[in-house]
Amino acid sequence: MGYHIISAAEAAALVKDGDTIGLSGFTPAGTPKAVTPEIAKIAEAEHAAGRPFKINILTGASTGDSCDGVLSRAKAIRFRAPYTTNPDFRKAVNNGEIAYNDLHLSQMAQRVRYNFLGHVDTAIIEACDVTPDGKIYLTAAVGIAPTVARLADRIIVELNAAHSKNMIGMHDVYEPQDPPRRRAIEIYKPSDRIGVPYVQVDPAKIVGIVEVNKPDEARAFTAPDPVTDRIGQNVADFLAADMRAGRIPDTFLPLQSGVGNIANAVLGALGRNPDIPAFQMYTEVLQDSVVGLIKQGRVKFGSTCSLSVTNECLNDIYGNIDFFRDKLVLRPSEISNNPEVVRRLGLITINTALEVDLYGNVNSTHVCGTKMMNGIGGSGDFTRSAYLSIFTCPSVAKEGKISAIVPMVSHHDHSEHSVSIIVTEQGVADLRGKSPMERAELIIEHCAHPSYRELLWDYVKGSAKGHTRHSLSAAFAMHDTFLRTGDMRLTKWEEYIK
Ligand code: COA
Repeated sequence: MGYHIISAAEAAALVKDGDTIGLSGFTPAGTPKAVTPEIAKIAEAEHAAGRPFKINILTGASTGDSCDGVLSRAKAIRFRAPYTTNPDFRKAVNNGEIAYNDLHLSQMAQRVRYNFLGHVDTAIIEACDVTPDGKIYLTAAVGIAPTVARLADRIIVELNAAHSKNMIGMHDVYEPQDPPRRRAIEIYKPSDRIGVPYVQVDPAKIVGIVEVNKPDEARAFTAPDPVTDRIGQNVADFLAADMRAGRIPDTFLPLQSGVGNIANAVLGALGRNPDIPAFQMYTEVLQDSVVGLIKQGRVKFGSTCSLSVTNECLNDIYGNIDFFRDKLVLRPSEISNNPEVVRRLGLITINTALEVDLYGNVNSTHVCGTKMMNGIGGSGDFTRSAYLSIFTCPSVAKEGKISAIVPMVSHHDHSEHSVSIIVTEQGVADLRGKSPMERAELIIEHCAHPSYRELLWDYVKGSAKGHTRHSLSAAFAMHDTFLRTGDMRLTKWEEYIK
């Protein structure tokens, strides 16, 4: 191959205090896993010796525990963007220990190119193969790998034998030019290819190959429950009815869906619904449920940034690559999530809210307005440009002590102007073409839990008239009551409405 084979510890020693590293991957899929734990060991040793050691980390999305987990526990992260799901990292962010920039994932690569996030010293790229002339073949995801590999001073390749070389050819790598020279991104259907199947780098920048045999740190699923099943059924029934009403073409439209149990339940219900034709996905993450639907012929094609699937499912794809080769493509996050393409293809987007307000504004990120959960991820990229944007959530959290429907969202990620449909296990609020007061009625009656409907109506009735009705002194009374008593249901409007 002509490259130096180095150990993960030798690779980690190239990273110095204050450096910025850029990683391949998107979710734990495709994220390097051997060098970052060694960086954490260096940080711990430096801290023990009384010396500072913190780095900045740029990625496509979340990572596995071997990055965000070990490095936050080692107090080795100064700055991090754009998304995470790691509980230890979350704790450190909410304690103020890590500077976290929560970004739309489609914008991450271009922000690095625009030099908004500083210089990239080292790119660490997970690969299933690398050629002497600098062609890096990625694994289960792309993320921002093409951009950080091109911009970094040096590249470390984690050549991971746990990923099959059968992945060669599954990626479509394309990096747009920056304004004012950017051209149209010519994707007219989810299966269109516009790039090359590898990341091309200057081979002289590859300072070492770290040989690894570590499977992706796939997240486990919890079993579906009656609430997520009901939400899934409600989404499927709604989309089938909208198609019958002629508002969705009878060919159906490509779907984007997030990860997690609700997304699994929604896709399962769509797959089972005989009124919904076999469909395509244009999305950022594919999970096991979609792979199952591809095998059943219910999903015809999946364009994604990441195969965020269990290792069993990934090995099934690797073992049956001839079947999957013309049914899947993996793209960089700025293409999988590109608003230009999302608007052109006419995506039906399905994302999850933490809370929704009476007028359709959505909070996906901050519990009670202050505590970061994960981040906005790709939800904004897709929602704002969707043909039809859907948000799902259970109507209550924490055994009913928290209502997902609140008078005003305590943090604002998606505005009422971008949100079309709200779905809970209670039902569906179709907000299209509705005034704020019509929306409030639909959301309370169709989506709020029955134990909160009267409380929410009392807020509306007690609020000042206007285009939207609000009482600024009481808009966060339910949150405030929860923080004081542990239960939103104890809200007494007379203590708040002035
Ligand atoms: N207030 C406080 N806590 C709330 C809450 C609210 N309004 N709503 C939900 N929660 C809690 C739940 O109780 C649960 O807590 P637990 O982990 O202690 O059990 C946790 O938040 C997660 O909720 P859950 O219902 O299990 O949903 P989820 O796992 O599907 O996550 C989001 C929901 C919103 C956190 C998640 O979808 C997300 O991070 N979204 C933003 C990113 C995104 O949309 N990406 C795009 C596509 S991948």
